[in-house]
Amino acid sequence: MIAITGATGQLGRLVIEQLLQATAANQLIALVRDPAKAVDLQEKGVQVRQADYSQPHTLDAALSGVDKLLLISGSEVGQRVSQHRNIINAAKNAGVQFIAYTSLLHAQQSIMGLADEHRQTEDMLQQSGIAHVLLRNGWYSENYTAAIPSALQFNALLGSAGAGKIASAARADYAAAAAAVMLTEGHAGKVYELAGDTAYTLAEFATELSKQTGKTIAYNDLPEAEYKKILLEAGLPEGLADLLASSDASAAKGALFDDSHQLSQLIGRESESLATSIQRALGEVNAAH
Ligand SMILES: NC(=O)c1ccc[n+]([C@@H]2O[C@H](COP(=O)([O-])OP(=O)(O)OC[C@H]3O[C@@H](n4cnc5c(N)ncnc54)[C@H](OP(=O)(O)O)[C@@H]3O)[C@@H](O)[C@H]2O)c1
Repeated sequence: MIAITGATGQLGRLVIEQLLQATAANQLIALVRDPAKAVDLQEKGVQVRQADYSQPHTLDAALSGVDKLLLISGSEVGQRVSQHRNIINAAKNAGVQFIAYTSLLHAQQSIMGLADEHRQTEDMLQQSGIAHVLLRNGWYSENYTAAIPSALQFNALLGSAGAGKIASAARADYAAAAAAVMLTEGHAGKVYELAGDTAYTLAEFATELSKQTGKTIAYNDLPEAEYKKILLEAGLPEGLADLLASSDASAAKGALFDDSHQLSQLIGRESESLATSIQRALGEVNAAH
């Protein structure tokens, strides 16, 4: 039995889609905070169990009979060390044989503010004695394509990533990697640094966006504090504005770059190119209008 946490999240849903292409639905358990959001998964024959990282009493029952667990890192930044501790402890109690954890690119050396919770989770997994694999995911391309609507509105892409190269990949590519390690053997003890095959600067992103839209969209590089202020003025919550601006500042120093091509090796194909990610995002923008 393979269980997936965060199964109603964006990455989790893509992983389940990929797993369903290769394995029977009755081999899968979707672990979700809110089962009402997972009715569609249940209809596909996937077992749905409630599992809230912050409520340890839900986790023991949720992991009963699970052989392999995909632990998708939680989204409540600041609470994740205790949340991940809860689920790792429950996995130990339930006799889970193997855990794949979605960590952060180069987690042990990363200068990104987000890295600390991932480092601590990696250390807890090491101490747990459970066989595990680290899927150190780089940035989602979608983090940047989400800025396309405002870039089109203002004819400018804003950021603080300077000339930092960003080797992002589509969520679906990271999902394919996660599905591959859950379905094939030989991954215990491995650490995969997962990133896109091609890296770009935000200026190159703006150039590609200009090319595909026929508009002239400039990349406007800002100091981190100024970028954060603009994000706040645009209505983003403090935590998210801080996260985006500080992540960009880290990207300027190379924190989102990797050229080891381990993602494409795991998934057996090239990762989605920047041009295709932008094309896909523009298709979604057009479909929404
Ligand atoms: N590599 C990147 O660029 C990047 C960017 C953003 C996030 N991440 C990390 O990657 C993870 C997956 O990304 P995503 O795009 O799928 O994020 P997402 O759509 O926000 O999904 C997060 C999932 O975590 C679940 N979750 C949050 N708190 C939980 C709790 N207390 N107990 C149980 N489940 C909980 C959410 O449950 P609900 O469905 O009930 O909300 C959701 O299913 C994120 O959670 C974050 O750790 C990576």
